[in-house]
Amino acid sequence: MADWHPTAYRTHTLGEIQHKGADLVGKEVIVCGFMEANRGKGAICFVDLRDGTGKLQVFLKGDTIGEENLDRVQRMTRESTLQFTGTVAQKRPPKVKEGETPPPPAYEVVATDVNILTRANVPLPLGITDTVSIGLDTRLDNRFLDLRRSHVNAMFTLRARVLQYGREHLITEGFKEINTPKIIASASEGGTNLFPMMYFDTPAFLSQSPQLYKQLAILGGMERVFEIGPAFRAENHDTYRHLNEFISFDIEAAWMTDEDVMGVQERMIHHIWKCVAKNDQDQIDTINAYRESQELEPISVEIPSLPFPRIDYCEAIQMIQDAGEKIQWGDDIDSSHCDIIAAKYPGFHFLPRWPMEMKPFYIHHVKGENGVTGEQLSRGFDLNYGRDEMTSGGQREHNVDVLEENLRSKGLNPEDFAFYTDGFRFGAPPHAGWGLGVARLLMVLTGSRNVRETVLFPRDRHRVTP
Ligand code: AMO
Repeated sequence: MADWHPTAYRTHTLGEIQHKGADLVGKEVIVCGFMEANRGKGAICFVDLRDGTGKLQVFLKGDTIGEENLDRVQRMTRESTLQFTGTVAQKRPPKVKEGETPPPPAYEVVATDVNILTRANVPLPLGITDTVSIGLDTRLDNRFLDLRRSHVNAMFTLRARVLQYGREHLITEGFKEINTPKIIASASEGGTNLFPMMYFDTPAFLSQSPQLYKQLAILGGMERVFEIGPAFRAENHDTYRHLNEFISFDIEAAWMTDEDVMGVQERMIHHIWKCVAKNDQDQIDTINAYRESQELEPISVEIPSLPFPRIDYCEAIQMIQDAGEKIQWGDDIDSSHCDIIAAKYPGFHFLPRWPMEMKPFYIHHVKGENGVTGEQLSRGFDLNYGRDEMTSGGQREHNVDVLEENLRSKGLNPEDFAFYTDGFRFGAPPHAGWGLGVARLLMVLTGSRNVRETVLFPRDRHRVTP
């Protein structure tokens, strides 16, 4: 549990009182929270109070707190914020049938004073504790309320943990966190899906990937770097897994090949899953309690075994053809094709060695390493989970002449990339890296069916507020 220092508003969090209640019985505390519900008329009232750490019952008696205070609380609306002063007490244990084990002791606060901080309007745009299913648009329009629902809160707690464990793991492997610019002058992925903007008097774009800058950090001798930052794509996709702004978890490392960085990726995911299974089962339980109310299958954290399977592009094409699909060497592998692969490899699996033709200019190739039709293969790979792509990455081209040739063959002008290609002219280490879509990884972990569920304020084709 975190070390919650007292603040000007409260001495203890509700979570602390739940967990350390035995040590606090008889002590005076000040607590704050949203009033989830109030029950009881006349001389007593029970308030269900909720803060970001948990829930607690506050017990009010007219002769202790005063008739006027009791009346104000009884008339208060759900989700209003209240501050209570009171004494911690053990709750009366519930009656259990003979032979049944009684539940562990629970605690409450017996209030001696109350301060109404804010009163919530009625009606609420969406219920906090109801189990009725609410449409995603309503939820996203009112995200500040949606987040108060415990399973949604659990989802974003897990998101923070995933980033924390991922960071932790990379740091143990010698990676350093960097930040690269999000206002850029030229495309990094070579495509046209950039959001244009004016940078004072100069046209510029929002960055679609930290790609070129993370490579420049490696060319600068930083050895191993990572970044967790926004990427912007002006794509027209309107699917369950595409956003126009997403958080890309990127690494780049010197003296590594595609195979080496696949190792980093699988070890990092393994670490994340292991830590979630060890530390965050309470969040999974909260999500599952909600899923049960919606008649959805529970989720569980299955720690993937290492190494992840590798199905290279040629083999993947063969599998899809064998399943009777019309696909040719050189075609993209779309979601329905991925379903065929996922039937055999339902968990995480790498798809290495794509045709060079299909990969961006910065991807390395080894001359003579050809596919079944004799075409040049690349050192680019994807990581999929089931039908969804989580990551792309690869070894990078470190020979500047080949790099410029690659740019030209993709119809790009090397002069536009001078700030990048110049970085290769003064000694360049072979290097590799990947970019992981954080929201997609969270979809896997939380069993979400839409990437928007795992993003606080998603930006898609139709949504730019809130
Ligand atoms: P790529 O373009 O494949 O590769 O992106 C890397 C990963 O980011 C996620 N992603 C997205 N998530 C949500 N909405 C989108 N529109 C979206 N686009 C991409 C995916 C994807 O696998 N520079 C390379 C990475 C590298 O080689 O290091 C790149 O950006 O999970």
